Amino acid sequence: MAIERTLSIIKPDACEQNLIGRIVARFEEGGLRVAAMRKVHLTQAQAEQFYAVHRERPFYADLVQFMTRNPCVVMALEGDDAIARNREIMGATDPAQAAPGTIRDLYGTNVQENAVHGSDSLENAKIEVGYFFPEAEIY
Ligand code: CMP
Repeated sequence: MAIERTLSIIKPDACEQNLIGRIVARFEEGGLRVAAMRKVHLTQAQAEQFYAVHRERPFYADLVQFMTRNPCVVMALEGDDAIARNREIMGATDPAQAAPGTIRDLYGTNVQENAVHGSDSLENAKIEVGYFFPEAEIY
């Protein structure tokens, strides 16, 4: 197993419901470590750039509006196989399909307001972590 870093975002819906601590606890209990963490209110330009890969999708405008409506928490999580582990702990994108006990099962509302984001590959994790954290702020 390789030690990896991945980007996690606790989205506005979860922050609004005061779920930050409970969500971080699930990552920690699942074997991941918070290596960097910051609360941030994304601007429209930041959200558009972060989700640029979805630019052509019908949900893109709604997604940008959702991600900018209130602050979120961005984290670099570190651990063995962190990318896959994070995705296991989060559950499927659509909370209705998420395995029991996963974060999206417990705290997600619908396919858009799904509580958390996690990088989907090593390549994207490097890009996404670098989007929010310079190396000197990752411990
Ligand atoms: P996330 O893992 O952050 O990646 C893209 C986001 O787009 C997703 O979680 C959801 O918040 C949002 N989204 C909205 N509608 C859909 C959809 N139909 N399929 C996938 N993602 C969606």
